Amino acid sequence: MITAVPVELTDAALAADVVDGLALVEKRLRLAAQAQHQVLTEASAHLIEAGGKRLRPTLVLLAAQFGNARDERVVPAAVAIELTHLATLYHDDVMDEADTRRGSESANSRWNNTVAILTGDFLFARASQILADLGPEAIRIQAETFTRLVTGQIAETVGPQPGDDPFEHYLGVVTQKTASLIATAGQFGAMFSGASADIIARIKPACAALGVAFQLSDDILDVASESAQSGKTPGTDLREGIRTLPVLHALRSAGSSSWGDDAPGPARAADRRLVELLSMGELTDPGLHAEALRLLRSHKAMELARADLHDWANKARSEILGLPDVPARTAFEALCEFVVERTG
Ligand code: IPE
Ligand code: IPE
Ligand code: MG
Ligand code: MG
Ligand code: MG
Repeated sequence: MITAVPVELTDAALAADVVDGLALVEKRLRLAAQAQHQVLTEASAHLIEAGGKRLRPTLVLLAAQFGNARDERVVPAAVAIELTHLATLYHDDVMDEADTRRGSESANSRWNNTVAILTGDFLFARASQILADLGPEAIRIQAETFTRLVTGQIAETVGPQPGDDPFEHYLGVVTQKTASLIATAGQFGAMFSGASADIIARIKPACAALGVAFQLSDDILDVASESAQSGKTPGTDLREGIRTLPVLHALRSAGSSSWGDDAPGPARAADRRLVELLSMGELTDPGLHAEALRLLRSHKAMELARADLHDWANKARSEILGLPDVPARTAFEALCEFVVERTG
């Protein structure tokens, strides 16, 4: 089951284009999942059928509204972008040792790491096959995007080096691992609908800012949300020792003793305990993990992270307002609301 398109489309013509486009995307995703080997077909279809928001193909279709939305290259571009995203999800769940994805068992849990890695590779190859028909420029952009995405994932794995500002490092990771593909989704939609160079140049940074906001909200939800909403296991980042924005704020506020001298004793003790837990790296012990998650959820770091999320959503909105005033622009603005408000 596909969870609803993450934006309400009030314009009837726009809604028809996007709904028709997404229906075609679904059919072609399932075709792309067909492999010679049954396990590969099953594993590829697994996450396609499990759900997902289809945010990235929706962005391709919305961006195409700034050109000829019915250009025959738009739907293949949207399919290739979702396949690339899917490939990264299979690999990400291996790296993050995640057992739940899109409300279903992750592929590494349902099968094993080998199957999950090969399925990710297969889906990425499928995306490349589709893009090859759109020409060398499409392949070049895809390769550059994937280079950035992998660079972001490795930077997250390695962590900040001595002398690095952890917030800057985090922002670099988020920009590369997540915003890169979301920016390319907007770029592809504009490019393959034949929109002007000016539109392409505006839509890419708008989607990049939206992409940063999207990962910030994902990192907040990893702490705050329950599985029933997110379809993922809460606290995965904490368990893996990945220092995302809420954790960075908690550590910084402890370092600057920002509780103040008049802070109540229990609050200071809770703060110290949270820092102690966060300094352990991976939190594989279920008791310690639950304690850290509970303390972080009620820490003011969450408010600080939400304030950063608002800032990035506003940044995306102001980029979007530079686009022509057509119904798709309103939909892009609604997506800025969505990233701030979303619960899954
Ligand atoms: C999950 O992306 C990976 C991130 C970049 C945070 P989505 O939240 O778009 O995942 P699906 O496609 O809806 O499952
Ligand atoms: C991964 O970020 C983003 C990708 C490029 C796949 P996360 O590890 O936070 O994504 P989720 O929370 O598992 O979806
Ligand atoms: Mg993950
Ligand atoms: Mg990850
Ligand atoms: Mg996450």
